[in-house]
Amino acid sequence: MHLVVDLGSSTFRAGVSGREDFISEPCVIAYDVSGEAIIGTEAAKMIGRNPDLVKITTPVQWGAVNDFSAVVDIIRHVAKTCLPGRLRRKFTLTMAIPSGLTQVERKAMVEAGKTAGAKEVTLVNSGVAAALGAGLPIQDPVGCLVVNLGAGVTEAAILSMRGIVDSRSLNVGGRSIDHAIIETLKKDYSFLIGQLSAEQLKRRCDAADGTETLEVKGRNLSTGLPDSLQVPCALIQGQWENYCNTIVDLIVQTLASCPPELVGDIMDRGIVLVGGGAQSKGLVNLLMERTDVPMIVADDPENCVIRGLLKDAKDTRSAVLANFFSNLSHPQLPISSKK
Ligand SMILES: Nc1ncnc2c1ncn2[C@@H]1O[C@H](COP(=O)(O)OP(=O)(O)OP(=O)(O)O)[C@@H](O)[C@H]1O
Ligand SMILES: [Mg+2]
Repeated sequence: MHLVVDLGSSTFRAGVSGREDFISEPCVIAYDVSGEAIIGTEAAKMIGRNPDLVKITTPVQWGAVNDFSAVVDIIRHVAKTCLPGRLRRKFTLTMAIPSGLTQVERKAMVEAGKTAGAKEVTLVNSGVAAALGAGLPIQDPVGCLVVNLGAGVTEAAILSMRGIVDSRSLNVGGRSIDHAIIETLKKDYSFLIGQLSAEQLKRRCDAADGTETLEVKGRNLSTGLPDSLQVPCALIQGQWENYCNTIVDLIVQTLASCPPELVGDIMDRGIVLVGGGAQSKGLVNLLMERTDVPMIVADDPENCVIRGLLKDAKDTRSAVLANFFSNLSHPQLPISSKK
């Protein structure tokens, strides 16, 4: 049986190739004193609330392995959850990774898969998987540009006729906005908030129409006491704007190497947005204003990569993703490794 996994910086998603159902949980592990692992939703609830005896780790950061043994534990966990017991020893594995990972980072992913028990590990480009999951005609002679707005990685890929015309990724994403909010409140307001509060604040600001300020709870660093703060929405919008500028730069760089006919296709068809960040209405509007190109948010944008991985074998019998070719100068995908 073939296991497909999208190990995201905030969420891991996994399923069995050819099926439609998949699991999706926060990519977080808590290890208690005995070393026992608590994986996913329960571990995420502990972030910022854990005593020293409980170690919390984020296995993946910026789309790459951050904690090797934790990544192995996650893959073992998804194999156990998704595969029937008797088949668990023989599984093969496909993982989606951003195009910007170095060869060393790619090898670490393959090694983690093999250590978790996979007989064979194939890495595929997450931009291509996302395009397939979004239902784009990636095999047709038409250019499409897909932009994946993740938590740790922002990736743009231009695809046409089963080929990657260009694909680039940056270690910037929704989580960078959370960190910037934490740092700004600390510096300008002497107020400390946790990662979960920053993420909620970011989303609340996006949903709040015309609201001037939003309340957040945390620690007043001047008094050392718990307190609440009214945060101006404009402060958070400023962070969204910085992120928007980064995305526009990435799009411009990706288009620079694109033949004019394909640019014309992209102008006509629009840019397809996937990933959790595509759910921010404010960001999508900003991107449209800045680029003057239609932005199309894919259905269920957060899950396009895993849907593409699941769909791959189902739609085509012989997997498209692993055969996708790239003309980039940096190391080629897929890396496939047998035990
Ligand atoms: N409605 C929303 N408004 C704003 N941001 C959102 C919304 N929904 C999700 N996000 C953000 O999207 C990000 C998660 O996206 P996604 O699940 O695609 O990331 P990931 O796959 O785990 O990470 P990556 O692919 O970057 O390694 C988080 O930063 C989250 O805060
Ligand atoms: Mg992702």
